[in-house]
Amino acid sequence: MEVIIRPNEAAAATLTARLIAESIQNKHDLVLGLATGRTMENVYAALAGMHKNDGLNFSACRTFNLDEYVGLPATDPNSYRSYMNSRLFNLINIDPRNTYLPDGAAEDLVEECQLYEERIEACGGIDLQLLGVGESGHIGFNEPLSALLSRTRQKALNKVTIEQNSPLFDPPSKMPRRALTMGVGTILDARRIIMLVTGSNKAQILGKAVEGPITSMISATALQLHPATIIICDEAAASKLEHKDYYNWVFSNEPEWESYR
Ligand code: GLP
Repeated sequence: MEVIIRPNEAAAATLTARLIAESIQNKHDLVLGLATGRTMENVYAALAGMHKNDGLNFSACRTFNLDEYVGLPATDPNSYRSYMNSRLFNLINIDPRNTYLPDGAAEDLVEECQLYEERIEACGGIDLQLLGVGESGHIGFNEPLSALLSRTRQKALNKVTIEQNSPLFDPPSKMPRRALTMGVGTILDARRIIMLVTGSNKAQILGKAVEGPITSMISATALQLHPATIIICDEAAASKLEHKDYYNWVFSNEPEWESYR
């Protein structure tokens, strides 16, 4: 795991978008795992800008989102499908047929989750997975007690997550209590992972995720098991990291990061 601390939210999002863009340039048919949430909005705006201004080409990419609310059809403005269409897919040249999210309105949710795993496998697995972290420590919607080897399935959302996300619903009580989510095991199968974490409200959970013991109570700690994970955060989110100086030293001195400093 590497931790890169950028001075602010905008710089953290720009670096994340740049690493994704370089991955697409290196492999045109990249299989990209995507996340939703407020943190990702700047990243998608930057990627849409790179497409518009520099011709970043998404035409051969395939994307798999982490999760979707149960019971929301794709057309619901609060669905993650709507979020992805308006913030990224409609702004770039990706083939909509190559953009996958679990269908939270599927009749048979168990079958839907199984199919989602099969689709990922049929595309050759995820090359690069983008992640945020919830205040509960979840990645995707892997709430506390998600098995570290879990696969795509239905998960009940916990109180912290409902408090964090319900203000986005009108009225807040309309927020679904369940979601379909890639499992922790599904996420760990990605070849590379970038987790973007910004804001002081994430400082405590980031400290636990990076420096705390691995536990199914905080699914983000499972990233410590992954061989190629980069955490990109801003100063505010990094404020509780004990070994901040070491992470900064690595970023300032390792040749691989020279062109990103
Ligand atoms: C959401 C999503 C996660 C996301 C996280 C952080 O509930 N399921 O994939 O990373 O919570 O959201 P935000 O960026 O809004 O803090």
